[in-house]
Amino acid sequence: MALIDVTVAEIIQESPTVRSFRLAKTDGSPLGTYLPGAHIDVVGPTSITRQYSLFSTPDAQDSFAFAVKREENSRGGSAALHEVGVGDVLRISSPRNLLSIATDATHHVLVAAGIGITPMLSLARYMDVHGISFELHYFARSEKEAAFLPLLRDRCPEKLRAHLGVAREDQDEILGTTFAGMDPGAHVYTCGPDGFMTKVVALAGRHVPAGSIHLENFHAAEQPDASENSAFEVELEGETYQVPADRSIVEVLQENGCDVDTSCQEGICGTCIMQVLAGTPIHRDNVLTQSEKESGEIMAVCVSRAAGERLVLDYY
Ligand code: FES
Repeated sequence: MALIDVTVAEIIQESPTVRSFRLAKTDGSPLGTYLPGAHIDVVGPTSITRQYSLFSTPDAQDSFAFAVKREENSRGGSAALHEVGVGDVLRISSPRNLLSIATDATHHVLVAAGIGITPMLSLARYMDVHGISFELHYFARSEKEAAFLPLLRDRCPEKLRAHLGVAREDQDEILGTTFAGMDPGAHVYTCGPDGFMTKVVALAGRHVPAGSIHLENFHAAEQPDASENSAFEVELEGETYQVPADRSIVEVLQENGCDVDTSCQEGICGTCIMQVLAGTPIHRDNVLTQSEKESGEIMAVCVSRAAGERLVLDYY
């Protein structure tokens, strides 16, 4: 995937643990627009690549902004980015969308917890500017830890429902009441810790179809031990390749010269998605939606495997 150099033009401490970074092109030319809900790959100072949602106004041309929460057990990704200063150069990919606005929705219910607010910000900012019907539920431990709360209160106070310091066991009631009152044509978007998103999907799923619930998930799914894997074969453009139990599809395709792009290699970025022409995938990613997985038409070949002895794939 092509990466470009960008300069860190501004850094803001948004909360005790969250810092935002505004990026501009090193030559001062516009970075361009992006679609709300997009994310970029960011190669940090330790060469670790991570995916971050863009939260700047999607229509603005001059710069991109993303935010990083410093994780307590950071292995170098978030901690290293928190050491970056204004004027430093980072490498980023073009914006990509795994999350986007459903154009057929009658109303949009955005539900974020913690740093999961970042993808919701670009959706909310776009919907607000374009007069699209939405509401934004933001769960945070406290006012102090709720990054971007002042911005949201300033820009769209009537759409914002801030749920601060709500105990986990009490979240269900708030979410349940919210979803019970939804128009059946509404769509739900969520981002936050895995347990929170699971809860949102389960509760929202009582009122709208699975295809109306959208997730942004930047945590890799836990992978089973390789000893549980089976070998199978993959056909791509008329050539057949053997995928042993201890290798991924993408490893085998790349070492055979196939041009499959990858980024995260953990099933969270969507770069390696391929089309499935025949065979049944075992999905082990956190990037495809439930309905995409059920369709069996696409798969993330960095982590997912075959349920049978053969898959026929094509570039996506
Ligand atoms: S490389 Fe990121 S999902 Fe496969």
